[in-house]
Amino acid sequence: MKDGVRALAADLKAFLSTREEDELIPLRSAAEQNSLPAPQPSETVATPAENQDHLTVEFVRAAQAAPAAQPDTNPAQTPGFFEEPAAAAAPVSTPMTAQEKQNALNQIAQEIKACQRCPLGKTRLNAVPGEGNPNATLMFIGEGPGFDEDHKGRPFIGRAGQLLDKMIAAMGLKREDVFIANIAKCHPMVNPADPEAHGNDRAPNTEEIAVCRKYIERQIAAISPKYVVALGGVASKALISDTKSLGALRGKFHLLHLDSVDLKTPVKILATYHPAALLRNPNWKKDAWADLQMVMAEMGLKRPQA
Ligand code: URA
Repeated sequence: MKDGVRALAADLKAFLSTREEDELIPLRSAAEQNSLPAPQPSETVATPAENQDHLTVEFVRAAQAAPAAQPDTNPAQTPGFFEEPAAAAAPVSTPMTAQEKQNALNQIAQEIKACQRCPLGKTRLNAVPGEGNPNATLMFIGEGPGFDEDHKGRPFIGRAGQLLDKMIAAMGLKREDVFIANIAKCHPMVNPADPEAHGNDRAPNTEEIAVCRKYIERQIAAISPKYVVALGGVASKALISDTKSLGALRGKFHLLHLDSVDLKTPVKILATYHPAALLRNPNWKKDAWADLQMVMAEMGLKRPQA
C-alpha cells in the first residue's frame, strides 16, 4: 500500500512539475484536511516548494474522491488503494409505527415463552419477556426475573419493582410510559429444583446472558428508545462493557452498541444501581437519583410537584 502510494505521489510530482502553478491541486493545513471535504477539481491554489510533502496526502484524497479520473492508475500495482467499496446508497427506512412495534414485541415474546435454549427454560414457572409502551423513549433493563416475576410472568413486580415504580414516578413518568425488561428472561435460581422457595435468586451467568441477549437486543431495536437505564452491575456490564465495574460505568451516558442488530438511531445508555441494591443500601439512593436526573435533563422532564 505505502509503496503504491509513494509511486503515485512520485508520478504526481513529476506531473505537477510540468503544470502552471495556478492549475495545481490546492494545499491545505492538517486541520483543514481533517475538517474540509476533498478538494473539487475547480479549486486552485499555488504550490510552494516547501509544501511538496503535502502532495501525497492531497493526491490520495483527490484520487479517493474521484478514482475514475486517474486513468493511468493500475489497481494491481497499488494494492488496497482502490479496494474500498463505493459507499452504498443509504437504505430508506421508515420508522415503525407503534402497532408495528407492538407486533414485533409480541413475536419476540412468543419466542421467549417457547425458548429452551438454556437450562433456565426447564425450571422457570413463567418466562418474563418484559412489558410497557412499545413506543417508549425510555427503557429500564434489569438482570433477570425473581420469585414474584417468575410466578406472574411480569418484570419488576416484587419489592424491587415497587421501588422502581417510585423511581419512575419521581421522574414524572408512569410505568406505562416506559418499557421494562431484563437481560435474562427466565428466573435464575440457586436451587432450580425448588421454584417455590423464597430467597432462591441468583444473577444470570455468562452463558445464560449470552444465549438470551438476542431477545433484549431485538426488543431494543423494535422499540427504538432514545435512552436505556441499565439497573445494576449485571445489566450494565452486559449492555455497556464486560469488564468495568458499575462504579466505573455510572455517571455518564454511553452509546449503546448491540451485537446482533444495527440500531437505526443512536441510543444512549446510563448505568445506575439496581433497586434491590438500593433496598439493601438506602444511602446509595441519592447517587441513583443523580443518575436519573441526568436522564430527566436529557428528556426535558421535570420532577412532579409534591
Ligand atoms: N430483579 C430484576 O433484575 N428483574 C426483575 O424483573 C425483578 C427483580
